[in-house]
Formats: sequence, C-alpha cells, structure tokens
Amino acid sequence: RPRVLSGIQPTADSFHLGNYLGALRQWVSLQDTHETFYCVVDLHAITIEQDPKVLRERTRASAAQLLALGIDPARTALFVQSHVPEHTQLSWVLECLAGFGEAGRMTQFKDKSARQSEDHVSVGLFTYPVLQAADILIYQADQVPVGEDQRQHLELTRNLAQRFNSRYGKTLRAPEPFIVKDTAKIFDLQDPTAKMSKSVPGGVIELREDPKRSAKKIRSAVTDTGREIVYDPESKPGVSNLLVIYSALSGRAVEELTTAYAGKGYGDLKKDLAEVLVDFVVPFQQQVDGYLDDRAELDKILATGAERAREVASKTLRTVYDRIGFLPAG
Ligand code: TYM
Repeated sequence: RPRVLSGIQPTADSFHLGNYLGALRQWVSLQDTHETFYCVVDLHAITIEQDPKVLRERTRASAAQLLALGIDPARTALFVQSHVPEHTQLSWVLECLAGFGEAGRMTQFKDKSARQSEDHVSVGLFTYPVLQAADILIYQADQVPVGEDQRQHLELTRNLAQRFNSRYGKTLRAPEPFIVKDTAKIFDLQDPTAKMSKSVPGGVIELREDPKRSAKKIRSAVTDTGREIVYDPESKPGVSNLLVIYSALSGRAVEELTTAYAGKGYGDLKKDLAEVLVDFVVPFQQQVDGYLDDRAELDKILATGAERAREVASKTLRTVYDRIGFLPAG
C-alpha cells in the first residue's frame, strides 16, 4: 500500500469547513487504500505564542475531531507530532540543506510575518516549512493530502528530498501532493475572494460552533449580483463557493445542483445548504464530546499511534544519520 502522511495544527478550538473539505475528508477516504499516518502538529503550533493550558486542550480536541470525522485508529497511526522526536531530528538535517533564500520565498511565511514586527516573528516560523518537510519525509510518504495553500510547502519538501538524495545517495522519497481540485480552496463566506481561515471570524464555519450560528452564517453569506444560481467562480465567487460546499457535503454534483435550483433564488439555496450543514455537524459534535469525555482512552489511542509512527520514523532517521556520516550511537 502506498503511504500517506498529513498534519493539522491545533491552533483553534475547532477545525473549520475549509480544513474539512480541503483536506480532512481526503484523510478519511485514503484510509481505504493507503497506509495512513496523521498527526496533530503541536510543534508547528508554537511557532506563534500559545498558552500551555489552551494548547493542551486544543491538541486533545483536535484528536477528538479527527476521530469523530472518521479517522480509524485501527487503520491509521494517529498521533501528536511532539511524541515522535524524529520529526525534529530530521528537521535539523533538512535545515542544513535548505537555502535561506529558498525558505524566505515561502508565501505563507511572508504573509504571516508581514503582519508582525521583525522581533515578533520567531525563527521557528521561518523554519516551519522545513519541519513540515521532515514530517513527511520521515515516513517516506508517497502522498500528502492537503489544501491548495500547502502546495508550495510540498514543492519545498520534494526539493529537499531530491537534494538529500543527490548529495548522499537515494534515501528519501519525494512525495506528491494529493489535492482535490474542486475543494482545494474553500472561500470565506463574507469575502469569497479570500481563503476561509481561522483568522477571519465572520465568514468561517467552525465545525464545533453552535449549529444555529453556522446556519446563520450560511444564510447571511455574501452572494453576488444577479439572481441566477450558476457556477462561475470568476464572476460569481460567492454563489460558486456555496455550490462547492453544498456539493461536497451532499455528494450531489454541482451541475445537478444548478439544475435543481434553476429558477430559484439565493435564499432557497442558502436555506437548504444550512440544513445539510446542520445535519452534518450535529452528530459530529456529539461524537467529539464523546471522545473528549474519555480522556484516558483518547490518550491511549495517541500513545499507540505514536508508537507505530516511531517504528517507521526511527528507521528513516537511522539511515539518514548513517548516510550523512554520523557515527552510530553504540
Ligand atoms: P493547517 O492546520 O493550516 O490546515 C490543515 C489543512 O486544511 C487545509 N485548509 C484548507 N483547504 C481548503 N480550503 C481552505 N480554506 C483551507 N484552509 C485550510 C490546509 O491546506 C491543510 O491541508 N502546514 C500545515 C500543517 C502541516 C502539514 C504537515 C500538512 C504540518 N506538517 C505535513 C501536511 C503534511 C498547516 O498549517 O495546515
């Protein structure tokens, strides 16, 4: 079975609809066909300041959400990134291969650091994509399911793997991004030209928020001029985004939806989509609460996941260290 690795940051109380449709849905389905490794990337989270208590809660809540979405610990190694120290160890090696300019060209870094004064931008934020590359390469992953915003980090990952291989001999597998075109970028409901992201509250559907609130956000989503329900991301980004979300959640093709809503108004579309969304999040939230109620069980799942992950990760690290010329540690 080809191998898959992906990660998600525990930087909010809830995942949002963009995380789910862009990436997590694929995490779930890939379990049927691939050997899967999924982690909650707490090391990445501390590239910006985190309150320790909140971070701990969000890390558990992230794992609970992944389980509730259908990540199956019997088939997947589900773990917390900091439990597998090999990620950080490989990251150092890759940092010594990555160019300063190369890292500086990462657009996520440029975006995130532009909002802060230079001394508030941590060195960790700068090396963030290199740690991400280590997350992936330490498992020799073939595929990495992510949203469009991670494409550049995947390109860096491939370059670092290839650079390592050309310097030290074939060792690391260069992974392919697994990006589902239709849902690769879910847009903000209030600003449908911007990516849905946790830093923009009004237009973001959080999977753990009150479903009534989500329904309201859908109903008050910014739509476009005209009144026809057509899929045209260029001239009708708002309606098109709603159609993409509706299609993904209902399993009905976008063309089927536009046919079904021919002659109807934006209000009808929003009302029905709100219902589909609520039907999805209500049972999800119950499941999340169930997993969070049994903390001992949750921690056990994560410990087992980390153990399985370490088996693979430690093997890769040993080979990498050997190729570099480090002495074996006794
Ligand atoms: P993160 O935690 O920001 O987001 C998790 C996943 O959600 C996707 N995503 C979206 N997809 C579509 N539309 C959106 N509006 C949207 N917003 C977020 C992201 O593309 C991502 O797949 N750097 C990563 C975490 C990471 C990682 C890794 C991923 C660390 N190590 C190794 C893959 C492999 C990140 O910040 O994702």
